[in-house]
Amino acid sequence: MREWWLYVALICIPLLAVYLHIPPPQLSPALQKWYNLGERFTFRKHNIFYTDSSGALGSSDVVVLLHGFPTSSYDWIKVWRSLNQRFNRVIALDFLGFGFSDKPRGHEYSVFEQASLVEALLAHLGLKEQRVNLLAHDYGDTVALELLYRSDQNRTGHLTINSLCLSNGGIFPETHYPRLVQTVLKDCSILSPLLTRLANYMVFSRGVGAVFGPHTQPTDAEFWDMWTGLRFNDGNLVLDSVLQIINQRAKHRDRWVGALTSTFVPLHMIYGPLDPINPHPLFIRLYQHLVHRSTVTVLDEHISHYPQLEDPTGFLNAYYRFINSF
Ligand SMILES: *[C@@H]1O[C@H](CO)[C@@H](O)[C@H](O)[C@H]1NC(C)=O
Repeated sequence: MREWWLYVALICIPLLAVYLHIPPPQLSPALQKWYNLGERFTFRKHNIFYTDSSGALGSSDVVVLLHGFPTSSYDWIKVWRSLNQRFNRVIALDFLGFGFSDKPRGHEYSVFEQASLVEALLAHLGLKEQRVNLLAHDYGDTVALELLYRSDQNRTGHLTINSLCLSNGGIFPETHYPRLVQTVLKDCSILSPLLTRLANYMVFSRGVGAVFGPHTQPTDAEFWDMWTGLRFNDGNLVLDSVLQIINQRAKHRDRWVGALTSTFVPLHMIYGPLDPINPHPLFIRLYQHLVHRSTVTVLDEHISHYPQLEDPTGFLNAYYRFINSF
């Protein structure tokens, strides 16, 4: 009867491997290149991944790139080379819990902490006194608004923001329609540990594919790179903690939307109108209604939630028009 155990083991071991996601996916050559380009620094005992490249010689301008959920600094790959030709320094980081940065479990992830992380990185790079341009997307938009709030309220110890460009972020809780899976993850503490365990490439690529336009879908290799970045350091297991941002946005709406409506920092919004999370025209109408000082670019009607990946040329054209306008 010893074979009985053998059969159970033969069935259970693969199931356990699937459940524990063993082995983690290998980095593709493209992602490996990004990984090698990056540097690391320590923030509150956590290892943080960032890239800092010195680009254009004739310019002293610095741009800091703030990525979205659930991806990483690799979201900027398609605009990276061009930004390096325009800016003296191009800095991108993986927020705590994302990409190649540490992803502590049982940690209370917050927008405030991610903003402090950006400040710490710029201090680490000797750029504390420098005027910086922030270019943000999605989750990064909210971090940028916290940085804006701090900078406008109290310059001491905070960034000096030269300009702020946002793109497709859920900055208004009232026009934000998170995906069902996001809502379950953030609010359903009984199901979320199981969901984060059972997350797999199929579920992931379908979910992320739904926030890209039908004509601008990522290739299989690009989906796989996003998934690899998420799975790095078992990032799927902290998705529910990281998503607490949605509740924080509602709780601190006055602080963050208030920073946006009262600032004198030059503002721009690049918007992919097919975005199901921040739908057209509700989102952009409210934005224009509330943020009079901002200029806006609405991209082609086929562009959805990831404009810098779906339409890098349109995205860059809009950004340069803005940057060169003041
Ligand atoms: C301004 O910010 C610094 C750094 O966070 C802090 O130490 C200081 O107390 C703040 N000052 C005011 C007036 O809020």
